[in-house]
Amino acid sequence: MEERGDFHYSLRMHRIQRKGGKLYMEGVSVEALADRHGTPLYIYSAGTILDHYRRLRGVLRALNPLVCYSVKANSNLAILNLLARAGSGFDVVSGGELERVRKAGGMAAKCVFAGVGKTEEEIEAGLRAGVKAFHVESEEELQAIAAVAGRKKGRWAPVALRVNPDVAAGGHAKITTGTYANKFGIPFEEVAAIYRRAAGNRYLRLRGIQMHIGSQITQAAPFRAAVRKMVPLVARLRDRYGIDYFDIGGGVGIVYQDALASGQQGWWKTPKAQRFMTLHEYAVSLVSLLRELRMQILLEPGRFLVGNAGMLVTEVLYRKQTGKKHFTVVDAGMNDLIRPTLYEAFHQIEPVGKPRPGAIATDVVGPVCESGDVFGHDRTLPPVERGDRLAILSAGAYGFAMASNYNTRPRPAEILVTGSRARVVRVRESLADLWRGERKS
Ligand code: LLP
Repeated sequence: MEERGDFHYSLRMHRIQRKGGKLYMEGVSVEALADRHGTPLYIYSAGTILDHYRRLRGVLRALNPLVCYSVKANSNLAILNLLARAGSGFDVVSGGELERVRKAGGMAAKCVFAGVGKTEEEIEAGLRAGVKAFHVESEEELQAIAAVAGRKKGRWAPVALRVNPDVAAGGHAKITTGTYANKFGIPFEEVAAIYRRAAGNRYLRLRGIQMHIGSQITQAAPFRAAVRKMVPLVARLRDRYGIDYFDIGGGVGIVYQDALASGQQGWWKTPKAQRFMTLHEYAVSLVSLLRELRMQILLEPGRFLVGNAGMLVTEVLYRKQTGKKHFTVVDAGMNDLIRPTLYEAFHQIEPVGKPRPGAIATDVVGPVCESGDVFGHDRTLPPVERGDRLAILSAGAYGFAMASNYNTRPRPAEILVTGSRARVVRVRESLADLWRGERKS
């Protein structure tokens, strides 16, 4: 299966399937979960997350990499715990994420602490916890980290620079990171000089080097180009300063629509001629380039591990027809899943119950008072009625993690399914939760 172009897709579908026409997550009926826990409802598959973790490690086994799951994609404690038990490290971007990892049973020594604007409090927390390294985004930040370490007697801080390799990786403008047109990383040309200056600082230890070129990347070529550009620099820094790891970042894309075959356009508008890379293709070119470095290799996948492991289940509230269009109003909104609104992201929408015969074209919209609150324009769906449930697929990454309380809407409950067992891993927020901390006078 790994060798085929449909690899990512088949991974998703073998745990989300129809039985007797009805949608199941692993061995659990989605309808039954919605009846029991209400909607909107996030449901995740533990099997898929572990499977993706193992397959990614498997395909790179010649490198024996440390996978540092990018916590920002989905930071639920149960998911962090699942990955920690599988041996994963973590890529955190705030003191809050670091605390979550520790609370979930993850090891700080396997955490890399990234982020373009760490506060001194966060730096202190990272030092105290004993993170593997800080991923540093500017020379000023390096000075700040040294200063915080210097205040503690005899302490030094482990650091790695985040390099911007200036490689365009495609993807949506709001999530592209690897070129000089954005705020991330230190320009490739300046890196050697900064390592030289940092090497003399007794409050710093140079541990590694990191890059990240973007997110939802669907082709192997940009990864290969960036790694190829980095390897000579990394080898030089290894020889001069004894750095021992190279972190190649995250960004491996997932298939959001099985309709790639049916010719519908995806949100990042991949030309039809370019099919999606396979995991095998991603790995092959990198393994040969990286093996000769003889260093520890780190990866920071977020979306790849959790994206296709999750769905957002919502109930149809109303249908209406305006002059031109048919609308299906559902009880989930852009506050629950903002990706379609923010990135024009495509998420496949499936009926949860047995699909009715026939087809309609409809805009699936939420209740939030913004015209951008749309999950899908002109979707072809089986006819739906009030009370039907719909599943918005591939919502495991940057779904709940980006949810808000806009319109004073409590955030959904979250369920983790393992085989035929379903556990509530976050209870639905109550209204009282939403105004906790507020004062009316
Ligand atoms: N490492 C670094 C330094 C990153 O900035 C990111 C993501 C990752 C790893 C993980 O990337 P992934 O493997 O998940 O692509 N909210 C957007 C995605 C933002 C990605 C930000 N950085 C979305 O919903 O598409």
